[in-house]
Amino acid sequence: MDALPIAPAKPAIPPAFFGETVTWVHHWTDRQFSFRCTRNPALRFVAGQFAMIGLMVDGKPLVRAYSMVSPPWDEELEFLSIKVQDGPLTSRLQHIQVGDTVLIGKKPTGTLLTENLLPGKTLWMVSTGTGLAPFMSLIREPEVYERYERVVLMHGVREVKELAYHDIIERELPEHEFLGEMVKGRLLYYPTVTREPFRTQGRVTTLLDSGKVCADLGLPPLSPEHDRVMLCGSEAMNADVKALLEARGFVEGSNSEPGTYVLEKAFVTK
Ligand code: A2P
Repeated sequence: MDALPIAPAKPAIPPAFFGETVTWVHHWTDRQFSFRCTRNPALRFVAGQFAMIGLMVDGKPLVRAYSMVSPPWDEELEFLSIKVQDGPLTSRLQHIQVGDTVLIGKKPTGTLLTENLLPGKTLWMVSTGTGLAPFMSLIREPEVYERYERVVLMHGVREVKELAYHDIIERELPEHEFLGEMVKGRLLYYPTVTREPFRTQGRVTTLLDSGKVCADLGLPPLSPEHDRVMLCGSEAMNADVKALLEARGFVEGSNSEPGTYVLEKAFVTK
Protein backbone atom coordinates (compact mmCIF):
# COMPACT_ATOMS: atom_id res chain seq x y z
CA MET A 1 0.00 0.00 0.00
CA ASP A 2 1.27 3.47 -0.86
CA ALA A 3 2.06 5.72 2.08
CA LEU A 4 -0.34 8.65 2.42
CA PRO A 5 1.30 11.96 1.57
CA ILE A 6 2.15 13.79 4.77
CA ALA A 7 1.13 17.43 4.82
CA PRO A 8 3.95 19.65 6.12
CA ALA A 9 3.28 20.19 9.83
CA LYS A 10 1.96 23.66 10.60
CA PRO A 11 3.88 25.23 13.49
CA ALA A 12 1.91 25.07 16.74
CA ILE A 13 0.38 28.39 17.78
CA PRO A 14 1.99 29.59 21.05
CA PRO A 15 -0.53 29.88 23.93
CA ALA A 16 -0.37 33.70 24.08
CA PHE A 17 -1.89 33.91 20.58
CA PHE A 18 -4.91 32.93 18.56
CA GLY A 19 -4.13 31.59 15.10
CA GLU A 20 -6.57 33.34 12.75
CA THR A 21 -7.23 33.00 9.03
CA VAL A 22 -6.72 35.91 6.64
CA THR A 23 -9.99 36.71 4.80
CA TRP A 24 -9.09 39.86 2.80
CA VAL A 25 -5.98 41.80 1.80
CA HIS A 26 -5.94 45.26 0.21
CA HIS A 27 -2.81 47.09 -0.93
CA TRP A 28 -3.39 50.87 -0.81
CA THR A 29 0.10 51.76 -2.08
CA ASP A 30 3.57 50.29 -2.16
CA ARG A 31 3.97 51.60 1.42
CA GLN A 32 0.66 50.60 3.05
CA PHE A 33 -1.79 47.71 3.11
CA SER A 34 -4.74 46.44 5.12
CA PHE A 35 -5.92 42.96 5.93
CA ARG A 36 -8.82 41.28 7.67
CA CYS A 37 -8.87 37.96 9.51
CA THR A 38 -11.23 35.79 11.48
CA ARG A 39 -11.75 36.69 15.14
CA ASN A 40 -11.90 34.23 18.00
CA PRO A 41 -15.09 35.07 19.93
CA ALA A 42 -13.01 35.04 23.12
CA LEU A 43 -10.97 38.05 21.92
CA ARG A 44 -12.34 41.13 23.64
CA PHE A 45 -11.04 44.65 23.10
CA VAL A 46 -11.99 48.28 23.51
CA ALA A 47 -11.92 50.73 20.55
CA GLY A 48 -8.47 52.36 20.41
CA GLN A 49 -6.53 49.35 21.74
CA PHE A 50 -3.78 47.41 20.01
CA ALA A 51 -2.71 43.75 20.10
CA MET A 52 0.50 41.92 19.24
CA ILE A 53 0.09 40.71 15.66
CA GLY A 54 2.38 38.71 13.42
CA LEU A 55 3.54 35.44 11.97
CA MET A 56 5.32 32.25 12.96
CA VAL A 57 8.86 32.60 11.60
CA ASP A 58 11.35 29.73 12.01
CA GLY A 59 9.05 28.18 14.61
CA LYS A 60 8.86 31.35 16.70
CA PRO A 61 6.33 34.18 16.89
CA LEU A 62 7.46 37.42 15.21
CA VAL A 63 5.01 40.09 16.33
CA ARG A 64 4.52 43.84 16.58
CA ALA A 65 1.92 46.12 18.13
CA TYR A 66 -1.00 46.77 15.76
CA SER A 67 -4.06 48.85 16.58
CA MET A 68 -7.37 47.32 15.62
CA VAL A 69 -8.94 49.19 12.68
CA SER A 70 -12.20 47.29 13.10
CA PRO A 71 -14.65 48.32 15.80
CA PRO A 72 -15.27 45.97 18.77
CA TRP A 73 -18.70 44.98 17.37
CA ASP A 74 -17.22 43.66 14.10
CA GLU A 75 -17.15 39.86 13.70
CA GLU A 76 -13.74 40.00 12.05
CA LEU A 77 -10.54 41.91 12.80
CA GLU A 78 -8.93 44.45 10.48
CA PHE A 79 -5.45 45.99 10.56
CA LEU A 80 -3.55 48.67 8.63
CA SER A 81 0.18 48.14 8.14
CA ILE A 82 3.16 49.83 6.62
CA LYS A 83 5.46 47.84 4.34
CA VAL A 84 9.17 48.13 5.02
CA GLN A 85 11.27 46.10 2.61
CA ASP A 86 13.91 45.27 5.24
CA GLY A 87 11.49 45.28 8.19
CA PRO A 88 11.66 41.91 9.96
CA LEU A 89 7.88 41.54 10.19
CA THR A 90 6.35 43.80 7.53
CA SER A 91 8.69 42.53 4.77
CA ARG A 92 6.92 39.17 5.31
CA LEU A 93 3.48 40.30 6.42
CA GLN A 94 2.96 42.32 3.23
CA HIS A 95 2.89 39.04 1.27
CA ILE A 96 0.08 37.37 3.26
CA GLN A 97 -2.81 36.01 1.25
CA VAL A 98 -6.35 34.90 1.94
CA GLY A 99 -6.25 31.57 3.78
CA ASP A 100 -2.90 32.22 5.54
CA THR A 101 -2.62 32.09 9.32
CA VAL A 102 -1.74 35.17 11.37
CA LEU A 103 -1.04 35.42 15.08
CA ILE A 104 -3.33 37.61 17.16
CA GLY A 105 -2.24 38.33 20.74
CA LYS A 106 -4.87 37.38 23.30
CA LYS A 107 -4.41 40.51 25.45
CA PRO A 108 -5.19 43.79 23.68
CA THR A 109 -4.06 46.92 25.54
CA GLY A 110 -3.30 50.62 24.92
CA THR A 111 -3.85 54.17 26.08
CA LEU A 112 -6.07 55.66 23.35
CA LEU A 113 -9.22 55.08 25.36
CA THR A 114 -12.05 57.47 26.01
CA GLU A 115 -11.92 56.50 29.70
CA ASN A 116 -8.37 57.94 29.89
CA LEU A 117 -9.74 61.36 29.00
CA LEU A 118 -11.71 63.75 31.20
CA PRO A 119 -15.15 64.70 29.86
CA GLY A 120 -15.10 67.37 27.14
CA LYS A 121 -17.01 68.73 24.14
CA THR A 122 -14.82 67.92 21.14
CA LEU A 123 -12.67 64.84 20.73
CA TRP A 124 -9.71 65.40 18.39
CA MET A 125 -8.06 62.39 16.81
CA VAL A 126 -4.73 63.41 15.29
CA SER A 127 -2.90 60.88 13.13
CA THR A 128 -0.26 60.49 10.45
CA GLY A 129 0.24 57.50 8.14
CA THR A 130 -0.90 54.19 9.63
CA GLY A 131 -1.52 56.01 12.92
CA LEU A 132 -5.05 56.34 11.54
CA ALA A 133 -5.75 52.72 12.54
CA PRO A 134 -7.07 53.06 16.13
CA PHE A 135 -9.24 56.00 15.08
CA MET A 136 -10.98 53.89 12.44
CA SER A 137 -12.15 51.71 15.31
CA LEU A 138 -13.05 54.66 17.57
CA ILE A 139 -15.10 56.56 14.95
CA ARG A 140 -17.31 53.46 14.61
CA GLU A 141 -17.81 53.08 18.38
CA PRO A 142 -21.21 54.53 19.39
CA GLU A 143 -19.96 55.29 22.92
CA VAL A 144 -17.65 57.96 21.47
CA TYR A 145 -20.67 59.91 20.20
CA GLU A 146 -22.39 59.55 23.56
CA ARG A 147 -19.40 61.17 25.28
CA TYR A 148 -18.63 63.97 22.81
CA GLU A 149 -20.64 66.53 20.89
CA ARG A 150 -18.29 66.24 17.96
CA VAL A 151 -15.29 64.26 16.79
CA VAL A 152 -12.54 65.68 14.58
CA LEU A 153 -10.39 63.17 12.68
CA MET A 154 -7.15 64.60 11.28
CA HIS A 155 -5.08 62.36 9.00
CA GLY A 156 -1.79 63.59 7.59
CA VAL A 157 -0.07 61.72 4.75
CA ARG A 158 2.54 62.40 2.08
CA GLU A 159 0.41 61.67 -1.00
CA VAL A 160 -3.32 61.67 -1.75
CA LYS A 161 -3.34 57.93 -2.46
CA GLU A 162 -2.14 57.32 1.11
CA LEU A 163 -5.44 58.63 2.49
CA ALA A 164 -6.48 55.09 3.42
CA TYR A 165 -10.17 54.59 4.29
CA HIS A 166 -10.97 57.99 2.78
CA ASP A 167 -14.11 56.64 1.07
CA ILE A 168 -15.34 54.74 4.10
CA ILE A 169 -15.04 57.84 6.30
CA GLU A 170 -16.45 60.30 3.80
CA ARG A 171 -19.09 58.27 1.98
CA GLU A 172 -19.95 54.96 3.65
CA LEU A 173 -20.06 55.97 7.30
CA PRO A 174 -22.67 58.78 6.98
CA GLU A 175 -24.88 56.29 5.10
CA HIS A 176 -24.30 53.43 7.54
CA GLU A 177 -27.46 51.70 8.76
CA PHE A 178 -26.76 52.10 12.49
CA LEU A 179 -23.99 54.70 12.73
CA GLY A 180 -25.08 57.10 9.98
CA GLU A 181 -27.37 59.29 12.10
CA MET A 182 -24.83 59.50 14.92
CA VAL A 183 -21.96 60.42 12.64
CA LYS A 184 -23.62 62.91 10.28
CA GLY A 185 -22.50 66.46 11.02
CA ARG A 186 -20.65 65.33 14.16
CA LEU A 187 -17.69 63.51 12.68
CA LEU A 188 -15.50 66.11 11.01
CA TYR A 189 -12.88 64.50 8.77
CA TYR A 190 -9.82 66.62 8.02
CA PRO A 191 -7.34 64.86 5.71
CA THR A 192 -4.16 66.69 4.79
CA VAL A 193 -1.37 65.98 2.32
CA THR A 194 2.21 67.24 2.50
CA ARG A 195 3.92 66.27 -0.75
CA GLU A 196 1.43 67.01 -3.52
CA PRO A 197 -1.50 69.35 -4.18
CA PHE A 198 -4.72 68.65 -2.24
CA ARG A 199 -7.59 70.71 -0.84
CA THR A 200 -5.76 70.81 2.51
CA GLN A 201 -2.00 70.82 2.60
CA GLY A 202 0.64 70.86 5.31
CA ARG A 203 1.58 68.89 8.39
CA VAL A 204 -1.00 68.31 11.10
CA THR A 205 1.29 70.16 13.52
CA THR A 206 1.40 73.30 11.35
CA LEU A 207 -2.37 73.24 10.85
CA LEU A 208 -3.01 72.88 14.58
CA ASP A 209 -0.41 75.45 15.60
CA SER A 210 -1.58 78.12 13.17
CA GLY A 211 -5.23 77.55 14.11
CA LYS A 212 -6.08 76.88 10.45
CA VAL A 213 -7.85 73.61 11.16
CA CYS A 214 -10.08 75.23 13.81
CA ALA A 215 -10.84 78.13 11.48
CA ASP A 216 -11.62 75.78 8.57
CA LEU A 217 -13.98 73.69 10.70
CA GLY A 218 -15.59 76.69 12.41
CA LEU A 219 -14.37 75.62 15.85
CA PRO A 220 -12.95 77.74 18.70
CA PRO A 221 -9.16 77.66 19.25
CA LEU A 222 -7.83 74.45 20.78
CA SER A 223 -8.19 74.59 24.57
CA PRO A 224 -8.02 72.11 27.47
CA GLU A 225 -11.29 73.61 28.68
CA HIS A 226 -13.42 71.96 26.01
CA ASP A 227 -11.13 69.90 23.74
CA ARG A 228 -9.74 66.41 24.29
CA VAL A 229 -7.02 65.02 22.03
CA MET A 230 -5.82 61.55 21.03
CA LEU A 231 -2.54 61.23 19.10
CA CYS A 232 -1.21 58.37 17.03
CA GLY A 233 1.58 58.69 14.52
CA SER A 234 5.34 58.59 14.16
CA GLU A 235 7.48 59.29 17.21
CA ALA A 236 8.39 62.72 15.82
CA MET A 237 4.75 63.65 15.19
CA ASN A 238 3.70 62.46 18.65
CA ALA A 239 6.50 64.49 20.25
CA ASP A 240 5.71 67.65 18.26
CA VAL A 241 1.97 67.56 18.93
CA LYS A 242 2.61 66.71 22.60
CA ALA A 243 4.79 69.85 22.94
CA LEU A 244 2.19 71.96 21.16
CA LEU A 245 -0.59 70.69 23.45
CA GLU A 246 1.38 71.03 26.66
CA ALA A 247 2.25 74.62 25.73
CA ARG A 248 -1.53 75.20 25.66
CA GLY A 249 -2.06 73.61 29.07
CA PHE A 250 -3.12 70.09 28.07
CA VAL A 251 -2.14 67.29 30.49
CA GLU A 252 -1.39 63.73 29.38
CA GLY A 253 -3.81 61.07 30.58
CA SER A 254 -2.99 57.43 31.27
CA ASN A 255 -4.63 54.19 32.29
CA SER A 256 -4.15 55.24 35.93
CA GLU A 257 -5.24 58.89 35.66
CA PRO A 258 -7.38 60.57 33.00
CA GLY A 259 -6.12 63.78 31.41
CA THR A 260 -6.92 66.14 28.57
CA TYR A 261 -4.89 64.29 25.94
CA VAL A 262 -3.50 60.79 25.35
CA LEU A 263 -0.97 59.36 22.92
CA GLU A 264 -0.06 55.90 21.71
CA LYS A 265 3.59 54.95 22.10
CA ALA A 266 3.32 51.49 20.57
CA PHE A 267 3.62 51.99 16.84
CA VAL A 268 5.00 49.75 14.10
CA THR A 269 7.86 51.29 12.17
CA LYS A 270 9.48 48.17 10.67
P1 A2P B 1 6.30 65.36 5.49
O1 A2P B 1 5.91 64.97 4.11
O2 A2P B 1 6.49 66.83 5.65
O3 A2P B 1 7.45 64.55 6.03
P2 A2P B 1 5.39 59.21 6.90
O4 A2P B 1 4.75 58.53 5.74
O5 A2P B 1 6.84 59.53 6.74
O6 A2P B 1 5.08 58.54 8.22
O7 A2P B 1 4.67 60.62 7.01
C1 A2P B 1 3.28 60.76 7.12
C2 A2P B 1 2.95 62.21 7.26
O8 A2P B 1 3.44 62.69 8.52
C3 A2P B 1 3.58 63.08 6.19
O9 A2P B 1 2.62 63.99 5.74
C4 A2P B 1 4.72 63.77 6.93
O10 A2P B 1 5.01 65.05 6.44
C5 A2P B 1 4.11 63.92 8.30
N1 A2P B 1 5.08 64.15 9.38
C6 A2P B 1 6.32 63.65 9.50
N2 A2P B 1 6.90 64.08 10.64
C7 A2P B 1 5.99 64.86 11.26
C8 A2P B 1 5.99 65.62 12.46
N3 A2P B 1 7.05 65.64 13.28
N4 A2P B 1 4.88 66.31 12.76
C9 A2P B 1 3.81 66.29 11.95
N5 A2P B 1 3.74 65.61 10.80
C10 A2P B 1 4.82 64.91 10.46
